Amino acid sequence: MSSIASHAMPFQMSGLPIDRRQFRGACAMFATGVTIVTAMAADGSPQGMTVNSFTSVSADPPQVLVCVDRRARMHDIFFEGSCFAVNVLDESQRDISTRFASSIEDRFSGIEWTAGATGAPLFPGTLAVFECEVRQLVVAGDHTIVIGEVIRLEAAEGRPLLFFGSGYQRLGN
Ligand SMILES: Cc1cc2nc3c(=O)[nH]c(=O)nc-3n(C[C@H](O)[C@H](O)[C@H](O)COP(=O)(O)O)c2cc1C
Repeated sequence: MSSIASHAMPFQMSGLPIDRRQFRGACAMFATGVTIVTAMAADGSPQGMTVNSFTSVSADPPQVLVCVDRRARMHDIFFEGSCFAVNVLDESQRDISTRFASSIEDRFSGIEWTAGATGAPLFPGTLAVFECEVRQLVVAGDHTIVIGEVIRLEAAEGRPLLFFGSGYQRLGN
C-alpha cells in the first residue's frame, strides 16, 4: 500500500449521502491561495468577497473561474459581459481576507483601493491581479461557477497567503 493510501480516510462506498461536515473536512485538506474577488455595482458601490475557489481554466483564450455562493450578497453582480477582478493576496494581507469574509456592511470603509481598467476594485500589495469579463455562468448546486476571460493581468513577486485545514497558513520556508 502506498503511503498516501495508508493515510487516507475510509472511502465512502455505502451509498449513504455524504455527510456535510465530512465533505468540508475533506475539502479543507486541499491547500489553496486566497483571493478577494471584486466588482463595481451598477450603483457605483465597490463590492468584494474572499474567495479561495479560484482556478485557471484555459490558456487560449485565457480564462479563470471562481465559485460564488448563490446566497452571497455579491452573487447577482455577475452576469454575462459583466466585469470582475481577482486580487491574489500576499501573506501580509490576512486582515483583508478576514474582513471580506465577514458580515461587515461596508467592507471597503478605511481600505485602500483603486479602480482597475474594468472599474473593479484593486488592492495595493497583492501578488497578482486578473481583470476579467464574464463569459459563462454555470449553476452548480448552491454555488455558481463564474468563468471569466482575462483582459488584463498583473503579477508581482512575494509570498502567498494560504488556506489549509480551515485556517490561514504561510509557506514553510
Ligand atoms: C479563505 C476563505 C475562502 C472563501 N472562499 C469562498 C469561495 O470560494 N466562494 C464563496 O462563495 N465564498 C467563499 N468564502 C466565504 C465568503 O467570503 C463569505 O461567505 C462571504 O464574503 C459572505 O458574504 P455575504 O455576507 O455577502 O454573504 C470564503 C471565505 C474564506 C475565509
